[in-house]
Amino acid sequence: MEEGKDPNATNVPKPNQSRLWPQGLVDQLLFVFIVLCFSLSLFVIYMTRQTSVTTTTLISSVPISQPCAHLKEQPETNLDHWIESPLNMLHTMSDKELFWRASLVPQLKNCSFTRVPKIAFMFLTKGPLPLAPLWERFFKGHEGRYSIYIHSLPSYEAKFEPTSVFHGRQIPSQVVEWGTMSMCDAERRLIANALLDISNEYFVLLSESCIPLYNFTLTYRYITNSEHSFMGAFDDPSSVGRGRYNYRMSPQVKLSQWRKGSQWFEIHRNLAYLIISDTTYYPVFKEHCRPACYVDEHYFPTMLSIQAPESLANRSLTWVDWSRGGPHPATFGKSDITEQFIKNLRRARNCYYNGQPSEICYLFARKFSPGSLEALLSFAFTDMGY
Ligand SMILES: *[C@@H]1O[C@H](CO)[C@@H](O)[C@H](O)[C@H]1NC(C)=O
Ligand SMILES: *[C@@H]1O[C@H](CO)[C@@H](O)[C@H](O)[C@H]1NC(C)=O
Ligand SMILES: *[C@@H]1O[C@H](CO)[C@@H](O)[C@H](O)[C@H]1NC(C)=O
Repeated sequence: MEEGKDPNATNVPKPNQSRLWPQGLVDQLLFVFIVLCFSLSLFVIYMTRQTSVTTTTLISSVPISQPCAHLKEQPETNLDHWIESPLNMLHTMSDKELFWRASLVPQLKNCSFTRVPKIAFMFLTKGPLPLAPLWERFFKGHEGRYSIYIHSLPSYEAKFEPTSVFHGRQIPSQVVEWGTMSMCDAERRLIANALLDISNEYFVLLSESCIPLYNFTLTYRYITNSEHSFMGAFDDPSSVGRGRYNYRMSPQVKLSQWRKGSQWFEIHRNLAYLIISDTTYYPVFKEHCRPACYVDEHYFPTMLSIQAPESLANRSLTWVDWSRGGPHPATFGKSDITEQFIKNLRRARNCYYNGQPSEICYLFARKFSPGSLEALLSFAFTDMGY
């Protein structure tokens, strides 16, 4: 602004002064004067700031009795902030920010606090959880050993009672298209949100049509005592296995490394970190595994088989019936649920647990229709133990 004024100021007295002083000298003197004024004002501003800073520092170091204001300025004096479960699920972090935050790993494994390992039950659903009453019974009385996360369509508004274990457990979600990378994105989003709770040690992915086959005690013991993570991963030589491999995925993924497996997994925290911090395989799968290559059946099984093969049981904990054929597994309704049917689900199958043949191979089963709820509830206590 001052610069704009000056040309006018020099212009007005010009006729008078030019008689007494040579024009060049007038201009020079004016210039020096302006520079001096400018420097002086800068100096004054600087000094005012310095003084006020000194004053505030002096004031704040004097103990004054303002308890609230005083407390806020206190540094954190204990670990609570780091080890307590985040209460508010609805943060405003973008995926990029969330994954970065979730990828922070403590290097010291020996905690200085008591840590009860929790299982994160992560529900991937379009909206409602019609079998919620069954799960409520399953979780009842086991608070502190599980946490729940729900990814639903962003437009869906959940209406769980405040007393429900599902109340307020929705995470910031995005639209999911079946068989595309957006499905894996949603699963990674669930994992990343669950990683924010330092006590979550195991991560189970479930759908709205899944049911638990055993009580919580057995489920918890089975998962926490296992030496392996339950990610289905096998080499399927057929057209819906190796046939979906694209040679452009090489060299990151070779045909011999290509795996297939059910989307429904249970993984240890160490593998959860690998999944949310992967930047090597993610772009390869996103680019080269598109329908009819269903990326949710290949990305995690292949990636983890390359990065942590010895950690995998190579089988899923979730039973599903593909015997009817077609692109979707069988759905069971009210009339399918009998005592014998549930016995069959829990029946011994050929599987290994910690290197030994095991009587129990599946802890969860799908798919169950909303209409099956009542029948399931009637068998829950006598036949499934919850
Ligand atoms: C872990 O912590 C416990 C208790 O604080 C201590 O007795 C033990 O020696 C520690 N172990 C290691 C490997 O540092
Ligand atoms: C859980 O189920 C197992 C096997 O079905 C049973 O042995 C155990 O007593 C049950 N535990 C509880 C607390 O109900
Ligand atoms: C799972 O498969 C990997 C090879 O992809 C193998 O190294 C690992 O030992 C298998 N796990 C079990 C429990 O057999």
